[in-house]
Amino acid sequence: MPLKLTNREKELLQVVAESADELKVNAYAVGGFVRDKILKRDSKDIDIVCVGSGIELAKTVAHKISNDKTLNGARKPFVSYFKNFGTAQIKLEDLDLEFVGARKESYRRDSRKPIVEDGTLENDQDRRDFTINALAVHLSKNEFTEIIDSFNGLEDLKNGIIRTPLDPAITFDDDPLRMLRAIRFASQLGFKIEEKTYHAIEPLAPRLKIISQERVIDELNKIILSKKPSVGFKLLFDTKLLHQFFPEMVRLQGVSVQDNYGHKDNFYHTLKVLDNLSEHTDDLYLRWAAILHDIAKPNTQRLEEGHGWTFHGHEVVGAKMVPKIFNRLKLPLDDRMKFVQKLVMLHLRPISLTKENITDSAIRRILFDAGDDLESLLMLCEADITSKNEEKVKRYKANLKLVKQKIKEVEERDHIRNWQPPIDGEIIMKTFHIKPCKEVGKIKNAIKDAILDGEIKNDHDEAYTLMLKLGKEMGLRNVEL
Ligand code: CTP
Repeated sequence: MPLKLTNREKELLQVVAESADELKVNAYAVGGFVRDKILKRDSKDIDIVCVGSGIELAKTVAHKISNDKTLNGARKPFVSYFKNFGTAQIKLEDLDLEFVGARKESYRRDSRKPIVEDGTLENDQDRRDFTINALAVHLSKNEFTEIIDSFNGLEDLKNGIIRTPLDPAITFDDDPLRMLRAIRFASQLGFKIEEKTYHAIEPLAPRLKIISQERVIDELNKIILSKKPSVGFKLLFDTKLLHQFFPEMVRLQGVSVQDNYGHKDNFYHTLKVLDNLSEHTDDLYLRWAAILHDIAKPNTQRLEEGHGWTFHGHEVVGAKMVPKIFNRLKLPLDDRMKFVQKLVMLHLRPISLTKENITDSAIRRILFDAGDDLESLLMLCEADITSKNEEKVKRYKANLKLVKQKIKEVEERDHIRNWQPPIDGEIIMKTFHIKPCKEVGKIKNAIKDAILDGEIKNDHDEAYTLMLKLGKEMGLRNVEL
C-alpha cells in the first residue's frame, strides 16, 4: 500500500532522510501519520523514530530547514528539545515534526517518566497501542515505500480492526488511556474492536482513574466529534469506561416501570438526539448541549397518578448541573459552558410553544432569551424529536416549522434579538437615587416583560412612565422631580 504523500510532506521527509544518512542512523515515519496517509486522511503531525538519538536528528533537520527559504516558509521553524524525555519538536507553519529515539519502554508522547533511548525499531513498535498505529516507513533517500509491518497492521487497516500488538492486558496496563483510544478510533474511523482487545477493557476500566482528566476529555471530545458519536458512547457504556468519569450520563440509562407506566430510556434517547444533531453540525459545544439536555431527568423523575412519569423542571436542574460537570470533566468554564447551560435551560421552550397558540409575546420572549444562540437552540429542538411514532414525529416537525416561520416574522418586525430595554439599571438608580439593589432588578424586569408582552411600546417615554409608577408603588422617591 503506497502512502499518499503531499509534495510538502515528501520534501520534508526527504530532509529527514538526508539528515539520518549524514548521521548514519535509521529513521522511520511512524504511528498515526502512516495510518492516516494510508487511509488518505489529513495529518498535521509527523512522528519520526530514530534508532539512535532523536534529538541529534532533530537538530540536523532543524538546521537544514532554517537555512533553506523554500522549506522554511514565511516563518522560522520553532524548535524545542526535551532532553529528559529524549524527544524534540520542530513546529513549522503547516506541519509539526516530532522526533523520538527508539525506546524499549512504552511509548507515550506526554509520559513524565524519563526514557532510555536504547531500543530497536522492533522494541518501539512492540510498545505502541494498536497494530494500525504500529506501522513504520523507512526514510531513505528518494523513496518512502518500504513499510515495516510487524503485527499485520496493514491487514487490520484494510479490514477496519482495532487490535493491540501485544496481549491487550499488557498494552492497556502500560497506558490505560489506550482503552479510551480504542473506542475513539472505533467511533472516529468506523472500525471494530477485535474481540480479545474488547474483552480486556471492562476488567481494566477502573485503571482509567490514574489518567489525568485532561487526557480523558481530549479523547472524549474526539469521540463526540466523530460522525456518529453514539457508536463511541455505546462502547464506553458497555465497557464501563463511561462509569469511571461520567456517572451522570450512566444514570440516564434504564426505564422505570411502575403501575404499568414506563418512559423512554433517556440514555439511548440522548444518543439519538446527539446523532441527529451531528448530521447538521460539527460544533463541539452544541453537541455537548445535546449530551446534557436531559441530564437531570433522573433527579426530577416522579410518577404522577393517572398521568405517568414526569420530569418537571429537569431543564432548570440540568442547567445548574452544567458548570459542575464541566468543572469536573475539565471542560472550559467560559462562554462555551454558558452556551451549553443556556441551551439546556431553553431546550423545551420552542417545542412547548407548539402547544400554545404561539403568541407574538411568547416568540418575542424566546428571541430575547436565546439571542444569537437561537439557531443552535432550534437545531437542538429539532434533533430532540425522536419518537418511534412516525405520526408524532411528523406533527412535531410541522409545528416546529410553524414556530420557525413565526420567529422570522416577529424578528423582521420587532428586532428583539440582542435588543436591550430602553431603560437600564443606571437610569433607575439615578432617578431614585439608590444603589444597586433588588428593586432595580425588579423594575428592570417588569419593564422588559411589559414590552415583550406588548403591554407598552418599545419606547423610552412609555418605559420611563412605567418605571416611575413602579418606583412609586415600591415607596421610592424620584429625586429628579
Ligand atoms: N501512542 C501509543 N499510546 C498512546 C498514545 C500514542 O502507543 N497512549 C502511539 C501510537 O503509535 C500513535 C502515536 O503514538 O499512533 C502518536 O500518538 P498521537 O499523536 O497521540 O495519536 P495518533 O495516533 O497520531 O492519533 P490522532 O492524531 O488522531 O490523535
